[in-house]
Amino acid sequence: MCGIVGYVGPKQAYGYLIEGLFRLEYRGYDSAGIALQNGNQIGIRKKTGRVSQLAEICKQDPIKGSTGIGHTRWATHGEPSDVNSHPHTGGNGEVVLVHNGVIENYSILRDRLRELGYVFHTATDTEVAAHLVAHQLKESLKQGADPGDQQTYVRAVESTIKQIKGTYGLAVLFRDVPGLLIATRLGSPLVVGIGRGEYFLASDASPLVGNTEEIVYLNDHETAVITANSFVLRRQDGTEPTMSIRALEQTTQDTDLGEYEHYMLKEIFEQPQTIENALRGRMDDDEATAKFGGLNLDPQTLRRIDRIVLTACGTSWHAGLVGEYLIEEFARIPVEVEYASELRYRNPPMSDRTMIFAITQSGETADTLAAMRECKRKGHPTLAICNTVGSTIAREADGGIYLHAGPEIGVASTKAFTSQVTVLTLLALLLGRMRHLSHPEGKRIISQLRAMPEKIRQTLKCFDKVKEVARKYYTAENFLYLGRLYNFPVALEGALKLKEISYIHAEGYPAAEMKHGPIALVDENTPSVFVAPRCEIYPKVMSNLEEVKARKGPVIAIACDGDDKIAHLADDVIFVPDVDEHLQPLVTSIPLQLLAYQIAILRGCNVDRPRNLAKSVTVE
Ligand code: M6R
Repeated sequence: MCGIVGYVGPKQAYGYLIEGLFRLEYRGYDSAGIALQNGNQIGIRKKTGRVSQLAEICKQDPIKGSTGIGHTRWATHGEPSDVNSHPHTGGNGEVVLVHNGVIENYSILRDRLRELGYVFHTATDTEVAAHLVAHQLKESLKQGADPGDQQTYVRAVESTIKQIKGTYGLAVLFRDVPGLLIATRLGSPLVVGIGRGEYFLASDASPLVGNTEEIVYLNDHETAVITANSFVLRRQDGTEPTMSIRALEQTTQDTDLGEYEHYMLKEIFEQPQTIENALRGRMDDDEATAKFGGLNLDPQTLRRIDRIVLTACGTSWHAGLVGEYLIEEFARIPVEVEYASELRYRNPPMSDRTMIFAITQSGETADTLAAMRECKRKGHPTLAICNTVGSTIAREADGGIYLHAGPEIGVASTKAFTSQVTVLTLLALLLGRMRHLSHPEGKRIISQLRAMPEKIRQTLKCFDKVKEVARKYYTAENFLYLGRLYNFPVALEGALKLKEISYIHAEGYPAAEMKHGPIALVDENTPSVFVAPRCEIYPKVMSNLEEVKARKGPVIAIACDGDDKIAHLADDVIFVPDVDEHLQPLVTSIPLQLLAYQIAILRGCNVDRPRNLAKSVTVE
């Protein structure tokens, strides 16, 4: 949440900063701002709303400078307003900074600083950091520190972060030191791009694409001291860690909209390819099993596992639920799916044979990271199922599986979900083949998986039908999503998609659970979406569907091609190809993604930037 950019070099910084903010806008879009250093002064422009609005005011009233920082905000403390927008200034303007994270002890620090005479102009927690850096600087200069020595400024930042409780990614400029940028992190991501005689800073690698090919991810408690000619990393104890320079793998194509109007739609239609990417090189036909390069666990350890905990948030948590069903079915290993926000503070009993998987698209979700660290601290093998290469979770996990889905920019997660489910299916297959699953059964799963990209291609043809259904129901204010077994998590995911981008109240339930309460919501204005492909308990789902119809509830069914029975019962049917029951979430989730998309469009909502949300939730 919140995106940070920074630049030091010979060029005007504005171009990189504004373009970088556009690319990071998915992290928050309550307001945006930049600060540019020009000689011994720092110009600031900031504005509530989108980066395009900031660009507009910068066009009307330009600022210049070859060192600068920028920020796109997802508000935590203080409403979205011009004054609360970043950058913030400290002291009498001698410090200017941007922040991503939450300063939990800000009110104590603010009271202390007020007593010292500092005046606060905003309702943010960040302003405390700005004044604190200014105060530390003032104190050390008073005690004789050399104003011409860079270390004086580094120490002011370092003593500030020692007093902060919470999380931060900070980028700091000093009015009186042109060409110096200090960045530091704890819990909020930062990456430095190395150019020729210039350096780029960003919250993730996307702004760096096209600007540099070499990047360095900052780790927690590290501070980057950057000038046009030098880039030094420091730990809080003053030591200099070894810098690990990586190649930037993203391309501009990955982040282009192409022929699509929205990233969400583009990402939905990418799914045949992303599923193929998730499968590539991971199926072993001879042994009828799966193989992964990065698990870093030997077969003995994998065989010893007697319990698995999958931890995640949001859509990734829903993928985890599908994983639970698959792993328990194929491998007979008990699985629990834990909300990361709960797991991080719970202390469930876990034997030393428990393996943890953190599932995350971004690899930066604060709760998932904290839950993973807590499990790691207790000595469990802790792995990641992650999309973002080089993200904090990917780097800190003992091993893991990448999704290879490419950048997901739409705030509503779509292709990451199906890739997570694909990878979890492979994982279940691997663990199953080490235990109870037979060779023929393994072969059957592999051949079904191999057919999946084509099945998804066929599924996407339902878009015209989805548009028709959306036109009929888009004014409804409540929806129910119902499914059983493998399609219960799909129902949850369908409801989440609708809520987050069209602001319609939607609830997902196991279909049979409906009669224990939610059926009271059924009336002629409340559509129920039944995810009802053919399965073992299809007749039971039909009974649930009849119960809704008997109460005059409109029914939209997601059903297998050629299911005439459901076509007679439901008001509307969206057909999907018939696939193995275990793999149904991969196809049944797609019409629900499209339905949410199309309803949001008809309601005039901003599909890629839904209100109140951010793509990567890096605060608690
Ligand atoms: O990056 P992560 O997978 O860790 O993100 C978890 C959730 O924040 C995320 O899935 C969120 O629920 C999406 N907006 C859902 O579309």
